[in-house]
Formats: sequence, C-alpha cells, structure tokens
Amino acid sequence: MSSPALAVLLGTRPEAIKLSPVIRALAASGAPPLVFLTGQHDELLQPILRDLGIVPDENLEVMAPAQGLSSLSARVLEAVDELLGRHRLDAVIVQGDTTSALMAGLAAFYRGLRVVHVEAGLRTNVARNPFPEELNRRLLARLADVHFAPTEAARAHLLAEGVAPESVHVVGNTVVDALFDARDRVLPSLPPDEITGPLLARGRRLVLLTAHRRESFGEDLRAIGDGVRRIARTFAGEVEVAYPLHLNPNVAGPMRELLGAEPGIHLLPPLPYLPFLRLLLGSTLVITDSGGVQEEAAALGKPFLVVRRASERLEAVDAGVGELVGTDAARIAEAAGRLLRDEALYARRAVPSRVFGDGRAAERIASVLLRGASGGTAVPRPARP
Ligand code: UD1
Ligand code: UDP
Repeated sequence: MSSPALAVLLGTRPEAIKLSPVIRALAASGAPPLVFLTGQHDELLQPILRDLGIVPDENLEVMAPAQGLSSLSARVLEAVDELLGRHRLDAVIVQGDTTSALMAGLAAFYRGLRVVHVEAGLRTNVARNPFPEELNRRLLARLADVHFAPTEAARAHLLAEGVAPESVHVVGNTVVDALFDARDRVLPSLPPDEITGPLLARGRRLVLLTAHRRESFGEDLRAIGDGVRRIARTFAGEVEVAYPLHLNPNVAGPMRELLGAEPGIHLLPPLPYLPFLRLLLGSTLVITDSGGVQEEAAALGKPFLVVRRASERLEAVDAGVGELVGTDAARIAEAAGRLLRDEALYARRAVPSRVFGDGRAAERIASVLLRGASGGTAVPRPARP
C-alpha cells in the first residue's frame, strides 16, 4: 500500500514551530507532506519559516490588519476549500487551536478528507478562556479522525468527551522536538545575532516577557505590564526585562505606551525563532501567557509565571517549574520577587521537566500516520462525498 497523500495546513507562528518536526519526520520517512499556509500571520511568520527551513507549497494570504474572528474564519474556510479542491489528498494535518487550525480542519471535513489534529485535548474547561481557543480545540476534537495528545491529561480530556480511544495517541508535544533540535544542532554553530547579542552580553539577570492573548486585551494586559514595571523598578540595575512584542495592534499599542519609556525594559520586535530561543536560554525568569513558551520554559527548566486566569497546561505547574499567577499586578511582582531573591526556592523550581515531551513526538506521529502504508489503518482512505 502506498503512503497516504498528506498536507499540513498552518497559519500562525506556533503552528509553524510545532509542525516543523512533523514535516521533517514525514519527509524522513519517505512521505513529505504538502505544506500550505493560510496566511493568518504574515510578517510574524516569515522569519520563523526561514529559521525552520520550511518552504511552503502555497500561501493563501488571508491576513488583514486587526482582523475580526468571523471575517478571518470565513476567509480561511473559503480559501482552504478552494485549495483542497485543486489537490488530491487523503488527510490534512492541523495543529493546536487557532482559527486557521479549526477552519482548515472544517474545510477538510467538508471535502470528505481525514483530519489529523496535533496537540489535541488541551482544556481549561472554561468556554471563553482562552478565547476563542478553548472553543476551537473542542470543535476540532469533534471533527478530527486522528488525535495526537501531548500528555495523558490531554488524552483523558478527549476520552471524557467521548472521543474513540483507538483514535487518540499520546506522543508528547512537538514543540520540544523543535526546541531540542534548535538548541543542540542549529544554535551552537551560529554567531550571536544583532538583537539578542548585546542584551545577553550585559551580564544582568534577564526576565523574558511575552503577552498577547485576546482575552487579556485591555485591563488584564495593562495589569501584566504594570506588574512587570514593578519588577523592573524593584530590581533596577540588577535585572532587565526583554519583551518581544506581538504585532497585534491591541498588544503593541498599549504596551508601548505603558512600558516604552521604562528604563530596564527592552521592547523588541517579534523575534525569529532562533534569536527568541537564545533569549529564553539566557533568561533567569519567564513571564508569559503563551502556550508554546510555557512548554519550552518547562523543558529547559526556566522557572516561569503564567499571567493568565486559567491554564490548560497545569502539568508544568504540578511539576513546580511553572506557577499560575493570574493577571493581578501586585501578585505578579510578588511572585517574581520571591524567585529573584530566594536562591533556594529558585533552585527547587529551575528543574527541566519532560511533562510536555521528550523531543520524539514527531517521530511517533509519523510512525502512526504511515502505519497505513504497511497495511494498518491509521489514516484510512476517505470516502469521497
Ligand atoms: C493568533 C491565534 C492565537 C495564537 C497566536 C500566536 C487565533 C484566533 N488566535 O492570535 O491562538 O496564540 O496567533 O501568535 O487564531 N498581525 C500582523 N502581522 C502578522 C500577524 C499578525 O500585523 O504577521 C496583526 C494583524 O493586525 C492581525 C492581528 O495581529 O490582524 C491579529 O492576528 P491574529 O492571527 O488574528 O491573532 P493573534 O493575536 O496573532
Ligand atoms: N516565539 C518566537 N518569537 C517571539 C516570541 C515567540 O519565535 O518573538 C516562539 C516561541 O519560541 C514559541 C512560539 O513562538 O515556540 C509561541 O508562539 P505564541 O506565543 O505567539 O503563541 P501560543 O503558543 O501562545 O499560541
């Protein structure tokens, strides 16, 4: 039996990072997938693709400034449907919980193709937090045929929702594969880069901040900024904050206004993947609302504070390396202060954790997907509607 005809559909920065090991593992197994961009992200994504060596087969270029969820969803659904009409495919691979992932999955479902969901089963069980991602991933669980869960907890969520156990595979999170590959194979041979080189050479302890979630826009985002400003002021001269700003105008505008003139806080452009990992590797503490950054920090043993009201990644909190602190400025500053002052506490928390994976998730995914090629049924041929 020949390999199934697979396409990877991706739209945003984290999808590119987390699907890059899958693309590579499938190619290494003799079944390179087609790679299609929805174009949900544009300038934010291009440097990431370059760092990861991903060359897309097509880009649907759907991005619009300050895009609304309904118009973005409609554009992705229509554009992916048209794309799928031009290619003979058996299955489409999507990742995570973005609008691109949900709408590409839905378009594939409507076309009668199999849907493979990578990073399935993450839940806060709060319908509007994160918004709209919690709903997106619940809907993807309804329409996917193969579910790659990063952890046992994720598998348990899927089974509790009635997903067939034989369609769920616990493989780890592919973000760890990408991270270890970049850290161990790619970064050691590269010279320092212009943005992070000078920052890392200053010799001060570095706090790395990322914050971009839709449900935090407005008050919560300002409170996160206020909390970080308190840290920079309390530890002035000892600690510096690096904040690569997301391009979303709801983030960049208010955060520039709040933190732009603050000594000790460096507002940076969004970074390509490899420079970002350099900052992460060189940081003492991470403050983030990002999913992927939490997973990377856990794998590296970088203590991190999650500045969100709910988390779908409590494994790292249970392991001790992460702490869910919410969006109250005083609480953020206090939690950071404890870690920056108390060496013993810091050492207890700064332990690399494998809760999100061991760096071999993509290999397992490729092996499951290509099992059909040797007579199994991992990706059964779709019935054409
Ligand atoms: C999206 C995902 C979120 C993910 C995040 C990763 C949805 C609903 N949200 O959020 O789950 O965590 O990506 O970063 O899918 N922009 C640019 N250039 C770019 C990218 C974005 O200017 O290359 C600006 C545009 O004004 C755009 C806005 O950012 O309209 C928002 O982008 P969008 O993809 O809708 O949402 P994100 O906040 O990036
Ligand atoms: N990242 C990056 N450059 C940056 C910030 C983040 O390359 O300036 C990477 C980071 O290594 C992680 C991913 O982007 O793998 C996280 O993406 P983001 O925070 O945008 O989305 P989320 O994971 O929250 O969906």
